[in-house]
Amino acid sequence: MFAFATPEGTRRYVERLARDLAPPYAAGHFRELPTQNGPLSLASVGIGSYTGPPTDEADAAYAEAVGGAVRRGVNIVDCSINYRHQRSERAIGTGLRRLFDAGESSRDEIFVMSKAGYLPFDGGAPAGPDGYIRRTYLDTGIVPPAELVARRHCIAPSFLDDQLSRSLANFGFESLDCYYLHNLEEQLEETTPEEFERRVSAAFILLEGAVADGRIGRYGVATWNGFRVPQESPGHLSLERLMVLANVAGGEEHHFRVVQLPYNLGMLEALGMPTQGLQGGRVPLLEAAAHFGLMVVTSVPLLQTQVIAHVPAAFAVQMPGLTTQAQRAIQFVRSTPGVFAPLVGMRRVVHVRENTVLAQVPPLAEAEFYRMLGR
Ligand SMILES: NC(=O)c1ccc[n+]([C@@H]2O[C@H](COP(=O)([O-])OP(=O)(O)OC[C@H]3O[C@@H](n4cnc5c(N)ncnc54)[C@H](OP(=O)(O)O)[C@@H]3O)[C@@H](O)[C@H]2O)c1
Repeated sequence: MFAFATPEGTRRYVERLARDLAPPYAAGHFRELPTQNGPLSLASVGIGSYTGPPTDEADAAYAEAVGGAVRRGVNIVDCSINYRHQRSERAIGTGLRRLFDAGESSRDEIFVMSKAGYLPFDGGAPAGPDGYIRRTYLDTGIVPPAELVARRHCIAPSFLDDQLSRSLANFGFESLDCYYLHNLEEQLEETTPEEFERRVSAAFILLEGAVADGRIGRYGVATWNGFRVPQESPGHLSLERLMVLANVAGGEEHHFRVVQLPYNLGMLEALGMPTQGLQGGRVPLLEAAAHFGLMVVTSVPLLQTQVIAHVPAAFAVQMPGLTTQAQRAIQFVRSTPGVFAPLVGMRRVVHVRENTVLAQVPPLAEAEFYRMLGR
């Protein structure tokens, strides 16, 4: 059993789609992620698994949805251990293993990501959440009490190590392609800048170890506000400083390779707001990430459906081949220079069918994208 997405596996996936998908996948739908062993061929749209109730019905829907997405040209999957109280990891794992067992796909074709940071419950919210956290994480020594922020967030190495083991068991996989520190800016709420950097350094060293022992392929930081707010704002994250800390933790060949942040028609900061210090200047996150050669995947492309009603009417003309507002909103994100792939939350098969039409339509060329923005 392959443990990771590989260049051979992802190429096989693309070749199979070339045979099976009708109409065929469009030029530019697959992008190359460089790795030491050659490029991974990954889709320009991924599937996320955040929303929905912690129910058996939603689990079954996600397992079905991820299967449909993989069949239709999506081989990037995003999760987090706390999504739906660990149920999303389990449901996505069930859906993917079902495909693998049926010989429809294999682990080396799919890029699987998850996250740790929030103390998760197990399957549902317990009657006494504080007691559950004390018994499971504090009394066991997994979470050092001094490193628990806002009673819910931790990046201590002992906790990350524990969470990664749980995530792997939830998916039923030997390893994950990318593991994120989830909403790292939460740690800034109750720490000094010096203590924050000490914790991040310790976390990065743990994650470098997880790469070395084959449990993860690379690691990253997934954020909500951290990369979107100006440098002077509370909760701001500096990518430049994080790169320095990664260099210290793992040397020049460190494995901090991915960032995730919200980006959509209503949240444009990654493209347009110079939130990041870089070599003495200020640039938007996408420019800073490109400078460091990082993969950028973006969350909430539909702003959890809120942008669908506000997609500019002109997109209908500027985006031939797409017929719905949701498709156009995703196309906008996917075509933004520097974005590798938006992660679209979708558990209904009808949404999977609608959104994966994008696999059969090319992303906008850079000039078209900027023309659309009036630049
Ligand atoms: N801080 C972080 O790290 C962070 C934060 C938020 C999200 N994320 C990641 O990013 C992913 C995407 O974000 P999200 O799920 O919060 O928001 P989203 O992708 O903007 O929106 C998901 C919602 O849109 C619905 N939807 C999908 N396709 C649709 C369509 N064609 N027409 C109408 N509605 C449609 C989904 O419904 P159904 O599910 O019912 O199909 C779901 O309710 C998450 O799943 C998660 O993996 C990360």
